[in-house]
Amino acid sequence: MIELVFATNNAHKLEEVQAMVGDKFCLKSLHDIDCQDDIPETGITFQENAQQKTDYLVNKYGLYCFGDDSGLEIDALNGEPGVYSARYSGTRDMEQNIDLVLEKLGDTANRTARFKTVISLYLNEKQLFFEGAIEGTIIKERKGVKGFGYDPIFIPNGYDITFAEMSPEEKNAISHRSIAVSKMAEYLKNL
Ligand code: IMP
Repeated sequence: MIELVFATNNAHKLEEVQAMVGDKFCLKSLHDIDCQDDIPETGITFQENAQQKTDYLVNKYGLYCFGDDSGLEIDALNGEPGVYSARYSGTRDMEQNIDLVLEKLGDTANRTARFKTVISLYLNEKQLFFEGAIEGTIIKERKGVKGFGYDPIFIPNGYDITFAEMSPEEKNAISHRSIAVSKMAEYLKNL
């Protein structure tokens, strides 16, 4: 089994990805390797932030690893909130972050947007990236209570409900994150 550290402390995420990559790999969380550090995330792209996570782990521990970074890009806001998605309003309060997006968009007709994930993988002395994106539209008022983050204001193309109105299974089948993870899992399976 090849040990691979996932730069996360989210046990649920770890379990999900473990199931997808199969038993050739044994995934470890940051907690499992006793890393309590606040890994810097100062890049201006998802790719830079994802790579900062793996660079940090490679430099400090010399371990094979992967890390992800995600966010929402809104065209009429020149790609914002982008890498600032988690703290767009200056706080981590998602109610305030959503309010700011809706306020900035106002009545703008162009409401196209996408969720993106980039995964950085460092394995066998190789640096690789896997991307997932889902296109959609930002609506004017919140709909739905499931999910997290900007889910209540995002309707993926081809649907008439928001991510926050979907079951976790429905969202996972099409989400940016699962697209990126599937690409990585496919690569790992074929190694
Ligand atoms: P992370 O890189 O996965 O931590 O995502 C950063 C931020 O992007 C989150 O705090 C959310 O605000 C936003 N985000 C990422 N993925 C999603 C999603 O699937 N739904 C809603 N918001 C998301």
